[in-house]
Amino acid sequence: MVDSYGRDINYLRISVTDRCNLRCRYCMPEEGVKNLGHGQILSLEDFARLVRIAGRVGIKKVRLTGGEPLVRKNVVKLIEYINMVPGIDDLAITTNGILFADQAEELKKAGLKRVNFSMDTLEDSKFRYITRRGQLEEVKRAVARALDLDMHPVKINTVIIRGFNDDEVLDFARLAIRYPLHIRFIEFMPVGDLLFWNKERMMSSGEIMDVIGGTYPLYPEKGIIGNGPAKYYHIDGGAGSVGFISPMSNHFCAECNRIRMTADGKLRGCLYDKKEIDLKQALANGATDEDLQQLFLKAIARKPARHNMNQGWGAQNRRKMYQIGG
Ligand code: 5AD
Ligand code: SF4
Repeated sequence: MVDSYGRDINYLRISVTDRCNLRCRYCMPEEGVKNLGHGQILSLEDFARLVRIAGRVGIKKVRLTGGEPLVRKNVVKLIEYINMVPGIDDLAITTNGILFADQAEELKKAGLKRVNFSMDTLEDSKFRYITRRGQLEEVKRAVARALDLDMHPVKINTVIIRGFNDDEVLDFARLAIRYPLHIRFIEFMPVGDLLFWNKERMMSSGEIMDVIGGTYPLYPEKGIIGNGPAKYYHIDGGAGSVGFISPMSNHFCAECNRIRMTADGKLRGCLYDKKEIDLKQALANGATDEDLQQLFLKAIARKPARHNMNQGWGAQNRRKMYQIGG
């Protein structure tokens, strides 16, 4: 399905829960997070039905996000179901990895093809600090497990924040040399807990590339590693690659191929757009498959040309990342 700006929308990101077992400082407050109640979130059956309809309007790739998708009960069942939907040929998750290792085999068997792990630091004490409750060891175990199970390409998402982990840029690059891992540096965006960090903390992709390039020359990667906005580079002798996702310095909206569904059943054209279409309400009103299909088409038609994040650092997004799904 092509939107009003000629973009082929074939990728659906689903936030299956707004809950998370971590409390990353830039994402969630420590205490008092008001999670959606049982009645407010879509059931797995609802998700399954909506994905089937998404398949009819041209969605080919699905990614499950959160919060943390693996805290949602029976997420394996949902994966199994999505894997059977005609037209959906790629199914991935974005996870913090804490619960991944023990379920990895089951997830793969259910049809999960790929995993992106979020990991902002390689140091135990910093990991505990930034996540407030996590053990880095668990994430390392998860990444190793994904490699063992050949769930390639295995990707790591890293948000570089000046004064926190900007001294680890080369360590991350070395990880991509040593292992077949694709390390993606994501520019820090003005979404989430802005009281803690501000614009000065954002390190642009260009700055990060300069740091890596100063030690390891970077060569644009020719092979296709993903279908998203990251630009990948190879390092001589490296098993993996480094990638850069630059929502702030070089917005890639013209190539955007995605729509998003939140855990409470809202369809969004853009991470940063306030307009939402309420699928949950439609389901409650007894919508037919045809009605739901029309709502998907409406969301795609309404997708904005680009985000406007640069215009308002501090102009708080009404919803946070863990509520929309990264
Ligand atoms: N800027 C950039 N990335 C963010 N994430 C969460 N909040 C932000 C932000 N403000 C990332 C997480 C994870 C992904 C789902 O989104 O680190 O990798
Ligand atoms: Fe959880 Fe991810 Fe937010 Fe960290 S960034 S608190 S892992 S949703």
